[in-house]
Amino acid sequence: MTGPSRYQAMYRRSLDDPDGFWGDAARAIDWIRPPDRILDDRRAPFTRWFTGGRLNTCANALDRHVEAGFGDRLALIYDSPLTGSLRRFSYDELLSEVARFAGALRGLGVERGDRVLIYMPMVPEAVVGMLACARLGAIHSVVFGGFASRELATRIDDATPKVVLTASCGIEPNRIVEYQPLLEGALEIAAHAPEHCVVLQREEHPVEIEDGPFHDWKTLAAVAPAVDPVAVDAHDPLYILYTSGTTGKPKGVVRDNGGHAVALRWSLEYVYGMQPGDVFWAASDIGWVVGHSYIVYAPLLHGCTTILYEGKPVGTPDAGAFWRVISDHGVKAFFTAPTALRAIKREDPEALETRHYDLSSLETLFLAGERADPDTVAWAERALSVPVIDHWWQTESGWPMVANCRGIEALPVKHGSPSVPVPGFDIAVLDDEGQRIAPGEAADSIGHVAVALPLPPGCLPTLWNDEEGYRQAYLDRFPGYYQTSDAGAIDADGYVWIMSRTDDIINVAGHRLSTGSMEEVLSSHADVAEAAVIGVRDALKGQLPLGFVVCKVGSELSPEALEAELVALVRERIGPVAAMKEVLTVAALPKTRSGKILRGVMRKIADGEAYEVPATIEDGSVLDAITSVLTARSA
Ligand code: COA
Ligand code: AMP
Repeated sequence: MTGPSRYQAMYRRSLDDPDGFWGDAARAIDWIRPPDRILDDRRAPFTRWFTGGRLNTCANALDRHVEAGFGDRLALIYDSPLTGSLRRFSYDELLSEVARFAGALRGLGVERGDRVLIYMPMVPEAVVGMLACARLGAIHSVVFGGFASRELATRIDDATPKVVLTASCGIEPNRIVEYQPLLEGALEIAAHAPEHCVVLQREEHPVEIEDGPFHDWKTLAAVAPAVDPVAVDAHDPLYILYTSGTTGKPKGVVRDNGGHAVALRWSLEYVYGMQPGDVFWAASDIGWVVGHSYIVYAPLLHGCTTILYEGKPVGTPDAGAFWRVISDHGVKAFFTAPTALRAIKREDPEALETRHYDLSSLETLFLAGERADPDTVAWAERALSVPVIDHWWQTESGWPMVANCRGIEALPVKHGSPSVPVPGFDIAVLDDEGQRIAPGEAADSIGHVAVALPLPPGCLPTLWNDEEGYRQAYLDRFPGYYQTSDAGAIDADGYVWIMSRTDDIINVAGHRLSTGSMEEVLSSHADVAEAAVIGVRDALKGQLPLGFVVCKVGSELSPEALEAELVALVRERIGPVAAMKEVLTVAALPKTRSGKILRGVMRKIADGEAYEVPATIEDGSVLDAITSVLTARSA
């Protein structure tokens, strides 16, 4: 008789003995004061981990590797085809940069618990800024560069940062992103006024640094003293990362120091199968959770080399860009979004570019951020001849919830499923009443994907300044569970299948966006009476937003002029990342008799899927008219 597999044994222990399991994992972190409690559920459902522990995340990411004699090891490689630059930082060098920049921040008055907002492109200084905050016990909040002033202002008002870190520009293949006017626009809208703004001058587009709250990054850093790490409580926030919610107001996901350090280091070893010294590359952006967790924190906490890539999968300069980076830097594990592979596949269907590079260092390709469609997975397997591992997680979890944990045991891969629950996550599929649906045929047992409480370390303990919002968004719907807002199933082998969102979030090129916030922008136009936004299927980006508006009576704009104004308005208010390129003017929106817009039915019509007309529809002819508009559009 055989015993449980290594995965099954670890998984069971993580749920049956969380104190033992995470207590052991915590030994791989340096504590200034060890925790008194591992799992602390005294305020359940508000779980806390490692109560009483004191540590510093930056010291764990940098100092301790230097102290252990690995100062010469490469910590960070900055590879930027967009600027033609390559810079390498050893652990010694990165520590010295971070310690001095922490000194600069302290000189501006930043102390433990203060917030620092980071609105920067993919440059090493952005990573330095994040780690410098961690060193001081300050809380960073990185805002993705593709968001516009209004989104930035919302985050400034919610996080109330003392300091903002920015750069003179970001670089997109088709244009320069001018951060200064975007930031100034945000500061005009925001009620909160940060005391200081530190600007990194980039030679590609230097700017005039005005007096007042603006400072030059390099001048400040040049004269700043190096500072030591500050001890913080395990529960102290390390960062706030805003993510799309169902309303226009983004949610400030909080990450604590202790649970995050333990879980993220553990994940690099056991989920990703990495050893200290290995080269790990996540081709994401520091503005997203993947960037926080797997460009910055996890690789450094585990003593690996991480790559910061300022480029695209295609066009910088060609569809071989990813393979060039893997080969140049000896990448062992590579993490990207399926949409990036689809972009490469579109330009190089036979993956001929792979032949120009030595990819022998690559052992595994990890995919996340959106559903990994089986065609793309199969293409990548053929192109790279390595296991292609889909894994599922969210900004809120901070690290994978379902994966094929390569550092524990390589389980069989099923295309279309991210595999099995990661230790620590008791994944359940619930019906509308909150009862667990028994595992079965994936297609027959779809429900709400939830995680039985307590969530393991590293997951969000709350929302910034909004414990009630946290409870409402995640805990109230299914008592005893964290609601993920994804729909899916668990099959008879225990494999989890993630199908779609159950809310109005859409996933565009691996970016999580709220259709609710786009509807708010459309509705704010003086000529719009009503608006609806749905996500429609797109071969490259997975989904694209499509807007519908009903004009106010008496509007003098032609439909074409209004549609163009609305596309521009979404770009101006939310930012280019919203990728809203199409708005259609219609006579009316299809609704139920109680006034609910039939967005789900509209999406199915747009995607050419079968749909049922609800018995409660108010006026069937409105739906017929929308169907004609959508049919004309797809023709
Ligand atoms: N700053 C400013 N603007 C940005 C930006 C940034 N950091 N990132 C993207 N944008 C802009 C783009 O320039 C584009 O603007 P445009 O309308 O003027 O062309 C717009 O936002 C939409 O960007 P995106 O949806 O990313 O489309 P794209 O055509 O530029 O690139 C892909 C398509 C597939 C190549 C790209 O989306 C990609 O690599 N995605 C992977 C996503 C990812 O890594 N997600 C993280 C989870 S792993
Ligand atoms: P984000 O918070 O931006 O990371 O987006 C999280 C959402 O992206 C999840 O709730 C899912 O809807 C989707 N997602 C992420 N990874 C996967 C995956 N591997 N398979 C299916 N959906 C995914």
